[in-house]
Amino acid sequence: MCSPEHFAVEYAINPWMDVTTPVDRDLAVKQWDRLRETLVGLGHDVHLLTPEPGLPDMVYAANGAFMVDGSVYGARFKHEQRAAEAAAHHAFYEAQGWRFIAPSETNEGEGDFAYVPEAHGGLILAGHGFRTEVPAHAEAQEALGRPVVSLRLIDPRFYHLDVALAAIDDSNVVYFPGAFSAASQRVLTQLFPDAVLADDEDAMAFGLNLVSDGANVVLNSEATRLAGKLKAAGYHPVPVELGELKKGGGSVKCCIAELRH
Ligand code: ARG
Repeated sequence: MCSPEHFAVEYAINPWMDVTTPVDRDLAVKQWDRLRETLVGLGHDVHLLTPEPGLPDMVYAANGAFMVDGSVYGARFKHEQRAAEAAAHHAFYEAQGWRFIAPSETNEGEGDFAYVPEAHGGLILAGHGFRTEVPAHAEAQEALGRPVVSLRLIDPRFYHLDVALAAIDDSNVVYFPGAFSAASQRVLTQLFPDAVLADDEDAMAFGLNLVSDGANVVLNSEATRLAGKLKAAGYHPVPVELGELKKGGGSVKCCIAELRH
């Protein structure tokens, strides 16, 4: 995770960002801190990346890389405003001594890649349409040695895979079908017949932008309906308020890069 100490909405690269809406940075830091404490309280280790001035979106740490089985496929941001974030993530992973594969294709890390370890022997789901480019999906497959399933995103409000779909345990996912092309919806139905389905309201509340340890599902507090669906499916929803970070177009998952080593 990376503290929103320098968070701001200074440019608009997704439909949620409005440069005329004021951002309360102190509140953003408080909310982010609660998220960090929540993860620690659930027994997880949290490593911190040092935020850098001039990189207001660095709080969305999920976009810096994608890690599977101790191997890290680096990010290459679509927008110039975020390009410099990649080096900070690269340095972090190298310092930890993990295998790092530098990308040549445009991709935004866990923003557009999800991993479901027990689904079909270990499946990578990959989004394209807005940020990550299709050739990056093949590059990730070669880098990580797991099959990659390409899914096309069609709604600009859900510009990253991680605002439309999330792994909720080792073999299942939750997603909002309307964010995907009709063909990609069929692929998801085939692969995950028991998936939890979210609706427009759940997705608009950033409910899908969640992290789960298989039992506890940490999600945006506004997504009360989705929390109810997850509870009915046997999970324990843990709501966290992240209203300020929503102004940049992100929530829980965007703030967390998962270390799968
Ligand atoms: N303002 C950031 C951007 O548009 C938000 C990124 C959200 N991160 C995510 N993993 N969806 O790039």
